[in-house]
Amino acid sequence: MCSTGAQAAANSPLDILNAGNAIRSGGRSKVLTRAPLARGYATPVDAPQGDYAFEVAASNLRFGEGVTREIGMDFANMKARKVGVFTDSTLAKLLPMQMALESLDANNVSYEVFDRTRVEPNQESWEEAITFAKKHDFSHFLAVGGGSVIDTAKVANLFTVYPDADLYDFINAPIGKGKPIEKTLRPLIAVPTTAGTGSETTGTAIADLPHLSAKTGIASRAMRPLLGIVDPLNTDSCPREVHISSGLDVLFHALESWTAIPYTERVPRPSNPILRPAYQGRNPVADIFSEWALRQTIINLPRVARDGNDREAKASMLLASTFAGIGFGNAGVHLAHGISYPVSGLNKKKGKWQHPGYEVNHPIVPHGISVALAGPSIFRFTAPTDPARHRQVANIFEELAEPHAKDHIDTSRVSDADLGQLLFDRIARFLVNLDVPRGLKAIGYGTGDVSDLVEGTLPQRRVLDLAPGFKGSDGREELAHIIEGAMEF
Ligand SMILES: NC(=O)c1ccc[n+]([C@@H]2O[C@H](COP(=O)([O-])OP(=O)(O)OC[C@H]3O[C@@H](n4cnc5c(N)ncnc54)[C@H](O)[C@@H]3O)[C@@H](O)[C@H]2O)c1
Ligand SMILES: [Fe+2]
Repeated sequence: MCSTGAQAAANSPLDILNAGNAIRSGGRSKVLTRAPLARGYATPVDAPQGDYAFEVAASNLRFGEGVTREIGMDFANMKARKVGVFTDSTLAKLLPMQMALESLDANNVSYEVFDRTRVEPNQESWEEAITFAKKHDFSHFLAVGGGSVIDTAKVANLFTVYPDADLYDFINAPIGKGKPIEKTLRPLIAVPTTAGTGSETTGTAIADLPHLSAKTGIASRAMRPLLGIVDPLNTDSCPREVHISSGLDVLFHALESWTAIPYTERVPRPSNPILRPAYQGRNPVADIFSEWALRQTIINLPRVARDGNDREAKASMLLASTFAGIGFGNAGVHLAHGISYPVSGLNKKKGKWQHPGYEVNHPIVPHGISVALAGPSIFRFTAPTDPARHRQVANIFEELAEPHAKDHIDTSRVSDADLGQLLFDRIARFLVNLDVPRGLKAIGYGTGDVSDLVEGTLPQRRVLDLAPGFKGSDGREELAHIIEGAMEF
């Protein structure tokens, strides 16, 4: 039977937090004493129908030590006329680029290099890359770098095929027009050098939009690389901080896609398959990839942080980042990514945090760090929406994080009401052990910034619409609550 809107509101996690109000506060621990209700949202009679299908899209992938040396053969096999090689000024001097260029030379492939990719691109740096690409009219594209480079190559490719279009034609609605990409892009081979964004397997590209003081991007299956070359040799030279930040990106890709609303609850049902978004909501195929990536990250990221020479752990993290890419590339991400965009975007104006280990001459909260800071607070909020799924996450942390710790908990004995706080504690502890700043305050934000952070998150509908606990609400109140809870952990 359909429930009413009022009932729906009463079932929201925020309502539980407010109405339950019996929150015991002691030290770091806050425990809900009223059992949250399971999902049970209103379905008004005239509500748009949810989707009935999901799709699975991923790039072709080749994994193995040294596979970067095959790139020249791939482009020769494709009879490439001229390849646009995208990288950044750091990678331009390192082994991944050296192997890629040697392979192109050995196979007589003609190419031009663009090494001015901005670390965490913005509109201006994208436009520079697009101008370069248009000038050369490349037949094929190669990206050698982290997410910043791969994303930049994707948009350079897009505007090679749509030379007269405006950037905002394809930027996600409602910020841009979010038009579907109907033409076939040129073949792009993506070589990730971080573990990582999973950008080698997704159709997503993200940039800072200065007027928005936040990031957003373009997301379409049409932008997926043709092939991802996933070579463990390529992440070897990452500084420890880059390993940690990009590894946290993997952790939250996995956590968010695993807990996103089911694809059947995403509305509206598309009238044409081209309108079905890449971020569809969780689904059985994405679940397999997300859960595997979650387990691998919890085991291997602390190993990489402890010992930068642990090549087995680094290789496992690279594979996990690609797997997580397949997971979230089809299911989507939600609150941690949504909130991260103003956290990193506003930092240029307000916080001016310059993360150690990042060789850049501008303030930066690296993507993975910006995603992680609100993580504990977010999953405390979302736990009541689907206790069973969140209990599985808590189990995985108990089983795999700090296996020798003395305070393990049998999660089957934790009530639904206490599950959110358990997740808060476990995620926070994982972050603290990786030397992550302990919340938004630690990077320069205060309670006076909450409303700006909320306003910067609200336009991120593409991800907010997949957040559990937001249905039937614009999210303003929920976001303020989560962000306040993210100030410190
Ligand atoms: N497209 C997607 O699906 C997606 C997903 C998540 C994040 N992103 C975006 O990706 C960007 C972040 O990408 P990232 O975390 O991969 O890092 P990055 O590309 O921004 O690189 C971070 C720093 O590490 C350096 N670096 C990269 N690889 C190195 C190596 N092997 N050795 C030494 N130094 C190396 C870079 O030069 C740079 O200074 C953000 O803009 C984020 O929004 C995109
Ligand atoms: Fe990410």
